[in-house]
Amino acid sequence: MGHCFTFPRITVLILYCCCFIITATTAVDPPTCDSSYGCISSIRQEDCAKGEILISGGSLNGCCPGCRGGRTYLAVCNLNIPDRLCAPGLKCVGRKCIYDRSTCLHTMHLDKDLVGWIPKCNLDGTYAAKQCRGDRLSGRCFCYSEDGKRIFGWDWYRNTERMTCACSRRRDKLEKEGRFDVTLHCTQNGNYEELQCDSGLCWCADELTGSVQLGTTVVHESLWELLPCYNSTLHGESYLRQCESAAQAQKLILKKFYAHGTVGVTFNEIPCDYDGAYGRYKVENGV
Ligand SMILES: *[C@@H]1O[C@H](CO)[C@@H](O)[C@H](O)[C@H]1NC(C)=O
Repeated sequence: MGHCFTFPRITVLILYCCCFIITATTAVDPPTCDSSYGCISSIRQEDCAKGEILISGGSLNGCCPGCRGGRTYLAVCNLNIPDRLCAPGLKCVGRKCIYDRSTCLHTMHLDKDLVGWIPKCNLDGTYAAKQCRGDRLSGRCFCYSEDGKRIFGWDWYRNTERMTCACSRRRDKLEKEGRFDVTLHCTQNGNYEELQCDSGLCWCADELTGSVQLGTTVVHESLWELLPCYNSTLHGESYLRQCESAAQAQKLILKKFYAHGTVGVTFNEIPCDYDGAYGRYKVENGV
């Protein structure tokens, strides 16, 4: 046995074999979703068979979108039998398929003639950010949160090609996470205004995504007038709009009361819209 290893050529061969085995073992791992194969990105709901719903992870081991069918609304189902599962958007409760309202996909089982309007869903079951009603000429589009709540932002259908609702969604998310002092400014359609300040920093933002415009930098809020997107006519001397300033002042006063041990002081919280204007629900003198 020992003498085999004294021959260089055999040693090389053994090493080669080892390498090959290692490579082969690696290749046997199940493919992950970001490995070689790509998905057919152009597949649409219209390409699915009747009763099937296009969802993310519907094909290729959950890596690509695909059409999935299943038992229909109120049909008898069984969680343990593969061909008795409910279709996406439905859940099996008491051996019957009922609406799973935690996903937007349940709306695809609603009767369009009865409910009048079916929202648009993303393939992952969240609600699409932009929801349009009516026709392209006179209809309107509105911004929605992932879980289907109407949030700030709207425009006429005909103007909505570049409407993303990204700013509106971001603010809504941050506020739901408990931040009460978000100062991102959204345009009327829910996109980002060009100049943004939040958490003590300011930057020139991409209208559609809010990310920092190429070739520009993020600055401390005291230097916001140095940003290339700053325009004195447009922005003036303060980033905060009148309503926001009032709301911030109110918060500062509250903070001082608390610091002095005074509790139980309440204000009607001043609601500002995401564009910094007074919200729709401003109550003045109890009216
Ligand atoms: C600044 O804003 C005003 C008002 O919108 C506009 O008329 C002007 O062209 C802007 N100036 C620059 C340098 O962009």
